[in-house]
Amino acid sequence: MKAILLAGGKGTRLRPLTIHTPKPIVPIFDRPFLHYQLDLLKRVPEIDEVILSLNYQPRRIEELFGDGGDSGLSIKYVVEPAPLGTAGAVRYAGESLRESVVVFNGDVLTEVDLAAVIALHRERKAKATIVLTPVDNPSAYGLVETDAAGNIQRFLEKPKPDEITCETINAGIYVLEPETFERIPKDMPWSIERSFFPSLIERDETFVAYVDRGYWIDIGTPEKYMQVHRDVMDGRFHAAPFAGAASPASITWVAPGARVEDGAILEGPCFIDDATIVKAGARIGPYSVIGRHCHIEERAVVEGSIVWANTRISQEAVVRGSILGRHCHIGRNATIQNGVVLGDKSVITDHSRCTGMSHQPLATSHRP
Ligand code: GDD
Ligand code: MG
Repeated sequence: MKAILLAGGKGTRLRPLTIHTPKPIVPIFDRPFLHYQLDLLKRVPEIDEVILSLNYQPRRIEELFGDGGDSGLSIKYVVEPAPLGTAGAVRYAGESLRESVVVFNGDVLTEVDLAAVIALHRERKAKATIVLTPVDNPSAYGLVETDAAGNIQRFLEKPKPDEITCETINAGIYVLEPETFERIPKDMPWSIERSFFPSLIERDETFVAYVDRGYWIDIGTPEKYMQVHRDVMDGRFHAAPFAGAASPASITWVAPGARVEDGAILEGPCFIDDATIVKAGARIGPYSVIGRHCHIEERAVVEGSIVWANTRISQEAVVRGSILGRHCHIGRNATIQNGVVLGDKSVITDHSRCTGMSHQPLATSHRP
């Protein structure tokens, strides 16, 4: 069985982070995001090949994953000449498929039991099965109404506030029958959410819901990108090195090749990657993630922030609740706070003050 990962979007809501790093490979701790999706696919022995459907910066992604050798899955790449939308991309990538295929949005993280989703699809002899997840506010997603027997009655992408009739949304995970792909126009943008799924309902096809109440997040905004790190550190999503710990929130993870000088303070949960130096008197506060080859200088403070590789935070600078790209330079005594997002190679001069729009602490996840 094959799986198609839709990983061709431009990641506009995650800009400027995605200017040089396409969304499917933004780091979550020290691993590119797609690794976490491949981990889930690997749990289903029947899935032997993953087709990465790409458009934006495909070379960066191909270089990282190659033919999939290390991951234990065979990986193929299909690069659209121009973005074909979510349905156009499925048709383009799945042209030669003759059996049921698993399709994943390339930005969702979940622990759903995929084998059970596939089993339901077969049992119901469905043309399409989609995973639904409950969320507090469906407006940023595809709202999906079902009947008592789990048949999909209505699919409404990005509903307006007065159109919200239920809490279940499209989790971006499907099992599809390739015979239905003929209805997707060739070589023009076509949306799976706005056109393909509504067409299944209109034709009264067997279109089935699998509701999953476990962990689920779409990492596609800076807030959610920070949230997913927090959820791993709190043990809500299970991933190394926090998974399995009796009290993950107390872990101060320092990679073997990192150097934390005497007199530096680490407060858990936090994560410091290889070859990073934390100088005496610096403080790494809770929910901080520091990438490789960073320098955190004397008396600098980092709290609740994600710092990508090769970034320097100079003496007495403060970084709170913010995300810094690669190779940034934060000058001495500068303050960066409340949801600032800096792209790669940003330079903030000494004594500068940058304050973002976020004044609230991150919400804790609603599940589990
Ligand atoms: N190959 C390819 N080509 N991939 C694409 C294209 C395209 O033209 N457009 C989008 N994608 C990929 C993105 O990279 C992403 O992985 C996935 O398709 C979904 O696109 P997003 O832009 O992230 O959509 P969204 O988050 O607003 O909404 C979608 O996901 C929600 C769940 O997170 C919809 O499927 C919603 O219905 C759903 O609730
Ligand atoms: Mg998304």
